[in-house]
Amino acid sequence: MLAAAAAILAEAGQPEVLRFWPRLSEGERRSLAAAVEQLDPAELRDHCRAAARAAALPPGHEPGPHSGPQTLQPLPPGVVGSAARAQPAELNRWRERGLQEIGEGRVAVLLLAGGQGTRLGVPYPKGMYDVGLPSGKTLYQIQAERIHRVRTLAAERTGRPCPLPWYIMTSEFTLGPTQSFFSQHGYFGLPQADVVMFEQRMLPAVGFDGKVIMEGMGRIAMAPDGNGGLYRALTDHGILDDMERRGVCEVHVYCVDNILVKMADPVFIGFCVERGADCGAKVVGKAYPTEPVGLVVCRGDGIYQVVEYSEVEVGATMQRRNPDGQLTFNAGNICNHFLTVAFLKAVAGEFEAQLKPHVALKKVPYVDEDGNCVKPEKPNGIKMEKFVFDVFQFSKNFAVWEVLREDEFSPLKNAESVGAKDTASTARRALLWQHYRWALQAGAHFLDHSNNRMPACTQLRETDDPPVVCEISPLISSAGEGLEERVKGREFHPPLLLTE
Ligand code: UTP
Repeated sequence: MLAAAAAILAEAGQPEVLRFWPRLSEGERRSLAAAVEQLDPAELRDHCRAAARAAALPPGHEPGPHSGPQTLQPLPPGVVGSAARAQPAELNRWRERGLQEIGEGRVAVLLLAGGQGTRLGVPYPKGMYDVGLPSGKTLYQIQAERIHRVRTLAAERTGRPCPLPWYIMTSEFTLGPTQSFFSQHGYFGLPQADVVMFEQRMLPAVGFDGKVIMEGMGRIAMAPDGNGGLYRALTDHGILDDMERRGVCEVHVYCVDNILVKMADPVFIGFCVERGADCGAKVVGKAYPTEPVGLVVCRGDGIYQVVEYSEVEVGATMQRRNPDGQLTFNAGNICNHFLTVAFLKAVAGEFEAQLKPHVALKKVPYVDEDGNCVKPEKPNGIKMEKFVFDVFQFSKNFAVWEVLREDEFSPLKNAESVGAKDTASTARRALLWQHYRWALQAGAHFLDHSNNRMPACTQLRETDDPPVVCEISPLISSAGEGLEERVKGREFHPPLLLTE
C-alpha cells in the first residue's frame, strides 16, 4: 500500500504527502493510499508546477486562459437576440418551437451543483438553501417545480407526457447530501429515473511552494475541478450516452444559485434551435460599467469567449460606449447556456484537453507539522479550475440571447452582511418583486388594512421588499403565464401565496 502510493508521489515530485505516515492509524493509511492511487502522477506534477508558477507572479497577475494581448470585439449584432427588443410574434414563435422540442423529448436540463459555496459558508449544498420565502422552498425545490411546469406546458402542446431529464453535476462535497435531500423529498414528485446525478473530479489544492496542501495528516486538501470539470465528468459517467439513449439533442446548462433561472427556457431554446446554434449563452446588461461580471465577447478572429473581469484591462475598454450611449461591452455572462449534444460530444472527445485552467488564490485550511488544523487568515493556496463557458471558442455557430436582469438573474453567492450583494435577501426580494409584478400584470389588486386598493408600485428597488408579499408556486406559472384566470380583477389581502 505504502510502496504504490510512494511511487506515484515520487514521480509527481510530491513525496511530502506521506510525511505523517508513521503517525496515521491503519484506517487513515488505507484512505490516504487510496486517495493517492486515484491521482495521475504526470497530471499531478504538471498541476503543481503550474500552480507554483502562478504563485510566483505578483498578486493580481495570475495567468488566466485569456491573459495576454488580445483584441476584444463587441458581439456582432447578427449573433445577438434580445428579449426586450424582439417582436411579440417572434417571442411567441420561439416559445412554441422550444416547447415543441421539449415536448418531443429532445431537451434536458443540466445543473452545475458541484461548487463548495465557500462565500455563502453553509455546511450543505447551496441548492438546499432556503432564502426565506413564505413557502420555505429551497433552490432545489423551486427548480424541480419549474421543471414540472415546463413539462406540463410542453405536454399540452404534444398531447402526451413529456420527459425532461434533469442531470445534476455534483462533487464529493455535494453528492451525498444532494442525494439524501432528493430522496427525503420524493424527488419533488419528478420521476426518479429522470433525475441523474453524477460527480465531477477533484484536484489537490497546492501551496505557493508548489507542494500539495494536507488538510489533515492523512488527508489531501482536494477541491472540485471547476464547473468546466463538466466535460470530463460527462465522459467519466457516460452521461452523453445516456442523453443519446433518451433522444436528447439539446441541453440547457445552468448554475444552482440563480433563484430566477428559467428551467429549459422555451424561448431561449427555440431561439437557439431556430438559428441552428450549437452553443448559446444568455446574457444581461451590466449594472454599471465596471461591474465585476464575466463578459461574453468576440475575439478578432470571430471566436467567442467569456473574459473574466479580472482578466481584462478594465478602465477604458469597459467604459467604452457606442454612439447610442450603450456600453460597447455589455453582455454579462449569467452561466446559462444552450449546448447541443453533438457539440458536447465534440468537446468531450476532441477539445476538453485544450481547456486551460483558471487560477484562484484561496484560503485553504491545512495541518501544521505538529498535526494542528490551521484556518489561514490570508490566501495560502491555489486552486485550479476549468470554467464551463471556455468551450464557446469551439462553437461553429454561436448565439447570444439577452434578457432582463430583473426577470432572470439574481444569484445567491454571499453570506448576509451589511451592504453585501447577491445574498439570500437580495435573491428573495428579486423573486418576490417578480411575482408581485406578475400578479399586477395579470390584473390582481391588493388591499390595505382599511380595504382600500393599494397603488401598484412597479419601481423595483433592490434594497427594499416589494410593497406586498406575493409568492406564486412555479407549479402554476413559470414565467408569469396562466395567472389571469386565477387573479384577474380579484382583490387580495397580502400576503398572497398562489399554489396549485
Ligand atoms: P461559483 O463560481 O459561484 O462557486 O459557482 P461556488 O462554489 O458556488 O461558490 P464559492 O466561489 O466557493 O463561494 C458557480 C456555479 O458553478 C458550480 C457551482 O455549484 C455553481 O452552480 N460549480 C462550481 C461546480 O459545479 N463545480 C465547481 O467545481 C465549481
